[in-house]
Amino acid sequence: MRSVSMIDLQGEFELFGAEVRRAVDEVLAGQQFIGGPQVAELEARIAARLGAEHAVAVSNGTDALLCALMALDIGAGDEVAVPSFTFFATAGSVARVGARPVFVDIDPRTFNLDADKLEAAISPRTRAVMPVHLFGQCADMDAINAVARRHGMAVIEDAAQAIGATYRGRAACTLGDVACLSFYPTKNLGGFGEGGMIVTNDAERAAVCRQLRNHGESQRYHHDRVGGNFRLDTLKAAILLVKLRYLDEFNRRRRAHAALYDALLTDLPVTVPHRASFGEPVYHHYSILSDRRDELMAHLRACGVGCGVYYPVPLHLQKCFSDLGYAPGSLPITEQVCGRILSLPVHPMLQEADLRHVAACIGEFHGAGARRAQPAAAQRGA
Ligand SMILES: Cc1ncc(COP(=O)(O)O)c(C=O)c1O
Repeated sequence: MRSVSMIDLQGEFELFGAEVRRAVDEVLAGQQFIGGPQVAELEARIAARLGAEHAVAVSNGTDALLCALMALDIGAGDEVAVPSFTFFATAGSVARVGARPVFVDIDPRTFNLDADKLEAAISPRTRAVMPVHLFGQCADMDAINAVARRHGMAVIEDAAQAIGATYRGRAACTLGDVACLSFYPTKNLGGFGEGGMIVTNDAERAAVCRQLRNHGESQRYHHDRVGGNFRLDTLKAAILLVKLRYLDEFNRRRRAHAALYDALLTDLPVTVPHRASFGEPVYHHYSILSDRRDELMAHLRACGVGCGVYYPVPLHLQKCFSDLGYAPGSLPITEQVCGRILSLPVHPMLQEADLRHVAACIGEFHGAGARRAQPAAAQRGA
C-alpha cells in the first residue's frame, strides 16, 4: 500500500544534507556557539527578503511573540485581541505577560481573524491585536490595520506559519507594527531544533528586542529591563541559512500541490481551502472541511495517508483560560471549524502520485471510487 506522510524531513535532508554538514563544520571549527556572524547574516537575509528594516533572531516563535509583547510594554491590565482558532502560543504569550487575551471569531472561509468582528471585542484596555496568518494565508491586514489605527492599537503579526506569503504584493511580516516567525522543524522554513525571529521596521523596537533576548542587557552586566535568554544558537542559524536557500522552491512546490488538490477534490463533498484574492498563501497546511471529519481521518489513516487536525480545541475553551468566562457557543464559527477541519499532506517532497492517492482515498470514502481511475484532465473538465 502506498503511504503518504504529513512531513518528510528525511527526504528534504537528502537535498541539502551536504551543505548543512559544511555549515555545521564551519561553526565547529570556530567554536563560537552563541551569536556570531551566522546569526547576524540570518537576520540580515531574512529582513532583506521580506523587505523589512530589522530582524531579531530569537529562541523560538513563542518567545518571539513574548518578546514583541514585552517590547510594546503590554502587561497586567491590558487586553490583546487574538483569534481562538490558532496554535496555543498566540494567546499563551499574551497571558504570560500578564495581559488578557480577548478572543475574536474567524472568517469561515479563510479561518483568519474576522476584521468585522474585531471592533466589538475592543475595550479601552485593548492595546494590540494579534492576527495570525493561519496555514500560510495572510489575514485581511488592511481591514485589521484600519480598526487598529482607529483605536490606537498596535498590530502584532503572528506569521509563524507564513514566511513567504504575500498580501497585496507585500510580504507577511511587513504588514503590521511587529511580526513573529517560527522556525520549528516542520514550518515552511524549519530549523534543526527551535528557532524564531522578530521582524519590524521600527529601529527602537528592534533594539529593545535585542536587549530583551539577552536579559535586558544594554552593556555587559548592565540590565535596563528584565528580559530573558531568548537567543538563537549559532549552529541553528548556520543551518537556517542553508535552508533559506530552498524556501522559495519549497513554497512553490506547496502551492503547486495545493493547486492539484483543488482540482482533484473539486467534485467531492469536502470544502477545499479558500484562497483570498488579496494574496498568495504558502500552504503551511492544506486544510479541508468535512462534515464527517473523524470518519474521513480514520479512513485516510487506514489508506496509509497521514493527516492531522489543526486545531481540535479552540483556545477560548481551553481549561487554562476557563477564568476568562467563555462558554461553548461564544465563538460559533471557530467552534464549527474545529469540528470539521482536516489537514492533508502538502510538504515539498510529495510527488503527483502521492497527491492523487490522497484524493483517490477521499473519493473512495465518499463512494466515488470509479472517478479515481479517470485521468485528471477528464476530472477537471467534468
Ligand atoms: C500560529 C503559531 N504561532 C506561534 C507558534 C509558536 O512557534 P514555536 O513553536 O516556534 O514556539 C506556532 C508554531 O508552533 C504557530 O503555528
